[in-house]
Amino acid sequence: MHPARGARPCYTSPMNISLPIIQTQIPPDVIDLGLGNPPLSLLPLELIRDAAQVALSQDDNSFLQYGAEQGDGYLRLDMAKFLGGEYGFSVEPESLFITTGISNGLDLLCSLFTQAGDTIFVEEPSYFLALRIFADHQLNVVSIDTDENGLIPASLEEKLAEFRPKFLYVIPTFQNPTGHTLSQERRERLVQLAQKHDFIIAADEVYHLLSYTQQPPKSFAAYTDVENVISLGSFSKILAPGLRLGWIQAHANKINRLVTPGLLDSGGGLNPFTSAIVRGVIESGGLEKNIGKLRNIYRDQVRAMDEALRLHLPDVEYSIPHGGYFFWLRLSKDTDAAELRKRASSFKVDFRQGALFSSQGGLKNYMRLCFVQYEEEKIEEGVRRLKRCLDSAG
Ligand SMILES: Cc1ncc(COP(=O)(O)O)c(C=O)c1O
Repeated sequence: MHPARGARPCYTSPMNISLPIIQTQIPPDVIDLGLGNPPLSLLPLELIRDAAQVALSQDDNSFLQYGAEQGDGYLRLDMAKFLGGEYGFSVEPESLFITTGISNGLDLLCSLFTQAGDTIFVEEPSYFLALRIFADHQLNVVSIDTDENGLIPASLEEKLAEFRPKFLYVIPTFQNPTGHTLSQERRERLVQLAQKHDFIIAADEVYHLLSYTQQPPKSFAAYTDVENVISLGSFSKILAPGLRLGWIQAHANKINRLVTPGLLDSGGGLNPFTSAIVRGVIESGGLEKNIGKLRNIYRDQVRAMDEALRLHLPDVEYSIPHGGYFFWLRLSKDTDAAELRKRASSFKVDFRQGALFSSQGGLKNYMRLCFVQYEEEKIEEGVRRLKRCLDSAG
């Protein structure tokens, strides 16, 4: 178990054996403002049940066979149409490759395009569990500075003078943990630099479709006519993480490489059974509706968290996210959020310390809060507890 994930729940079976079911369970009296998971109450069981019923009551049982290496063709057709509508430019089914989520997509990219000891670039800060995947592949991780508009191209150019990275891992939209979005101008500059210096841009766009108050710039999918650009998407945050389903959009040359690993030779394309269910969710209009519902709920929760922070922690610096899951708080210079977190349990609140997201042991006076897990009153109560915890530091 990764220590940052916390204790796993155990359910006791009739035979008295403890079996974990979900990855992280929050103790009932704790408000965990750190956990970046959707709440169980927003995982759409009925939508999935209806689509599964349709898939399982037809005569075509081909989704029970080993699947095509690139992924379920019907799903790719549906997704191309759906993503085209959301993105505002056309998406070809041939440019899509089905994964079991972004984590799987990143692991595959590491397997296919890197070797142990290679250098990759990440943002500072970056998604801490992606850093774990890169550690599994024994990659040399070099970080690039960011600001309110995302990764800073000048910092990237500086590092490019020193290193030859295999890829740049970037979360361009509503970033984890900062909530910041890479500007259109910088996206274009990054693509130019990737071509000039021959590295891949692995754009993790897990939050791209979760926009609440401002449309983000164009997805990196718009640049996949360039061979170096890869866009990774996922159903985890727009439908349900337990589905383990996502996609990669890329240039034909990259797709041709993605379909060749031994993993797929032996096991076939990824997740054909779930793909058959999710294509029903898309065809019924359920995915679009679900995203609309999430946007409305999360928009209110952003407002609630902002109000609570302004009321209880007026000295803390942050910017209000326009989408995604997170607020990124800057505490006073001498606050060590990891130390603070040790005390948080006695105030029945939790968060994630900034240092988790740093690949250079920095960002000690930052913390990440997530606003999706709780309804508005609980968000306010959580921030109130956080204030008490901070006050106790003296
Ligand atoms: C930035 C980022 N990338 C990837 C993931 C995981 O995505 P998936 O469930 O598709 O593997 C998360 C989940 O929190 C995330 O925040």
